[in-house]
Parts: sequence; structure tokens; C-alpha cells
Amino acid sequence: MSLQSQKGGTQVLARRVSSGIAGLDALLDGGFPEGKVVLVLGEPGTGKTIMVSQFLHNGVTGQGDKGVYIGMNEPKTRFNTEMMSLGMDFAKLEREGKFAYVDATEVRRIPEQAKVGRIPVGGRELGLVNLIDLVQEGIDKLSPKRVVVDSISDLVFRFPQIEERRPAVLDIVEVLQSTGTTCLLTSELPTTGEDRVLQPEEYLAEGVILLRILRKGVRTLQVLKMRGSKVDTTPRPYVIKNTGLEVYATEEVYGQTMEK
Ligand SMILES: Nc1ncnc2c1ncn2[C@@H]1O[C@H](COP(=O)(O)OP(=O)(O)O)[C@@H](O)[C@H]1O
Ligand SMILES: [Mg+2]
Repeated sequence: MSLQSQKGGTQVLARRVSSGIAGLDALLDGGFPEGKVVLVLGEPGTGKTIMVSQFLHNGVTGQGDKGVYIGMNEPKTRFNTEMMSLGMDFAKLEREGKFAYVDATEVRRIPEQAKVGRIPVGGRELGLVNLIDLVQEGIDKLSPKRVVVDSISDLVFRFPQIEERRPAVLDIVEVLQSTGTTCLLTSELPTTGEDRVLQPEEYLAEGVILLRILRKGVRTLQVLKMRGSKVDTTPRPYVIKNTGLEVYATEEVYGQTMEK
């Protein structure tokens, strides 16, 4: 937790929520801003799921913050097994009532032409409504401090036009923001090269963290933005160990424009 001085000399309490990832709080001016939505962007395999899981796991074990994981990609059993191999026993936390896994994998499977009873509805809109319902369900169930939605890509890629996609993402971000919990959203990027197109979720989230694999074995984490925070925006190297992500907050990567 730290005091943050704002423009105009007014002191506003900007409480920080520890990220739970070794080295990351140093880049974030102490942690994530409490009650805000932060986006974690990166190609598949960069470590997004591991990172957001550490945020939840360490929140429970280190801070006593209850956490909810809304999974769009993998069923609970697979999630639990994968995280167990990294030393995170989510099944135990769930039994203790400190964590809830909300299975949102069905949302992805709603066909484009869906029906509610006999009334045809747009599948993608229905998917969005379902996800929002599931978020609410998870929050009602546990009153968590931390929420993760992993990932929103499948859902929002159903809205290929930017003008359709923007309100869809805004709906998700607004619902999360209204819960007062600190949230991490993940989104997959087809490419994280210099010529990549900015996604609407990057404008709409309070903060953005970009994970990249530069070349074999070299990974960087960059805090692209964090509104109202003095953050370190230098890409910093990170590794994935059998305990999860670890960021080297004072190191730099040379030749980082070099692509894989
Ligand atoms: N025990 C481990 N030690 C080192 N690396 C690991 C370990 N477990 C997973 N990884 C690495 O983590 C990456 C997958 O992380 P994940 O969070 O699932 O990525 P994403 O969600 O971005 O697709 C892979 O690159 C894999 O090599
Ligand atoms: Mg993942």
C-alpha cells in the first residue's frame, strides 16, 4: 500500500494490491491500483495464465484476499492440475472457501445463431451476457477482492469490427469495474511486434501489461500503462520457473527489437 500524490496537490489514497509476482510490484509503484481492471496481453505461451493465477493464489495465501477465476479456455480439472505443478493448490483453496473457479468455457461454444427458447438471438451477444452473468455469479458467491477473466479473446474476436468490439469490451470492463474488485483480464495477441494494431481493450483498461517472447528463452514483461501511477515502462526480462513467473525489475534486455 502506498500514498499517491495526484495533480493539483490533492492527496488521494491510491491503495495498491500486491501483484503476487516476484519483481513486479517494483515496476508498478507498489502493486496494481485497487479496484481497477488491468489487461495482461501476450501471445499464447507467454505465461498469462500462470501470472494471473499467481495474482490470485498469493492474494489468498499472502493477503487473505479471496479470489475468483473465470476460465474461458480450460475446464477446472485441467486448470487445477497445471497450477498444482507450479505449486499452487487451487482445489484446496476452493475447499476452504477462499477461491472459486467459474467455468465459462461454454460461453465460447455458443453458436453464432443461438436461441433462447424459440427466439433466435445473436450468439456473440448471448456469449457476452453469459460471461457477465458468470462474473456476477462468482462475485455473489464469494465476495472476492480479486477477480480474473482468462481470456476474453475468443469472445471479443467474435466482434471483428472495431466499432462492434469496442462496446463489447467496454461492457466487460464496466461490469468488472463496478464490482470494486481488483481485476486482471487476459487477452491473446496474434503478434506483439512493433507493427501490431492496438486493441480496444488496451484503451479501456486502467492498465496494460505486455508479455513477449523475443527469441528462444528470452521473455520480457512491459508495463505499457497504469493510469495515475508512476510505473516503470522499460521492458524487463522475466522467467517462468516451477514456482511461476519471476521478473528481473532492474535488468534490461539488449536487442529487444529483434523478433523471434
Ligand atoms: N514448470 C515450468 N517451468 C518452466 N516453464 C513453465 C513451467 N510450466 C509452464 N511453463 C511455461 O509456461 C508457458 C505457458 O504459460 P501459460 O500461462 O499457460 O501461457 P498463456 O496463458 O500465455 O498461453 C509455456 O511457455 C511453458 O513453457
Ligand atoms: Mg492461458
